[in-house]
Amino acid sequence: MMNVMDILRKILIAPSILAADYAHLAEAVRIIERGKGDWVHLDIMDGKFVPNITFGPKMVSTLRGYTKLPFDVHLMITKPENFIHKFAEAGSDIITIHYESSVHIHRHLNKIRELGKKAGISIVPSTPVTVLSEILPIIDLVLIMTVNPGFGGQTLIEQTLNKVEFLTSIKQEKNYAFFIEVDGGINRENCKRVIGAGAEVLVVGSAIFEAANPEEEIQLLKGGE
Ligand code: DX5
Ligand code: ZN
Repeated sequence: MMNVMDILRKILIAPSILAADYAHLAEAVRIIERGKGDWVHLDIMDGKFVPNITFGPKMVSTLRGYTKLPFDVHLMITKPENFIHKFAEAGSDIITIHYESSVHIHRHLNKIRELGKKAGISIVPSTPVTVLSEILPIIDLVLIMTVNPGFGGQTLIEQTLNKVEFLTSIKQEKNYAFFIEVDGGINRENCKRVIGAGAEVLVVGSAIFEAANPEEEIQLLKGGE
């Protein structure tokens, strides 16, 4: 349920270009700008950590030339430490790695910050949110996967919203600064529930890029409608 605090809270929309036309990704970035999206979400998949492959740092640096919007880079790759500096150089603003991708997450998050970028941590639906307790004080963003990562167009797993609620309360209690971001299956029907659980940044792929009017869809989601 949305309350007054939810309505006052600024919700950021991070459209995911995973669902856009790959032959015209620069146009996808322009759509995000025209629709007043807040961040551009870029999904990096390696075919190992997730059963799909997308693109690498070259695509990120190419698109960097088309917009000044923050680049929210979601690394769904094994050994993220091998690529952090490449995605930083390519023009990422936020680099999110998966908790499940390495034993030495703490080290890699510090590396991201040393490179002057915002550091995010993500968990898949089967990972409990409590495993993040030691790193919550040192991160800029938590990305709760609301679907199993790898593909756009899946259905949101309602149970994952419990993790968003948990993070919302611990963030208030300890006065932490991280953004709470959600990714997967978000659309105009369920965004109110997602925002009500405490999400601050909504990653949305197919609901935007498959809409009749993607720019208008960004605005609808922003208003939690
Ligand atoms: C899924 C990706 C998402 C994806 C979301 O693994 O991390 O960012 O683009 O797409 P939708 O909104 O279609 O679920
Ligand atoms: Zn993503």
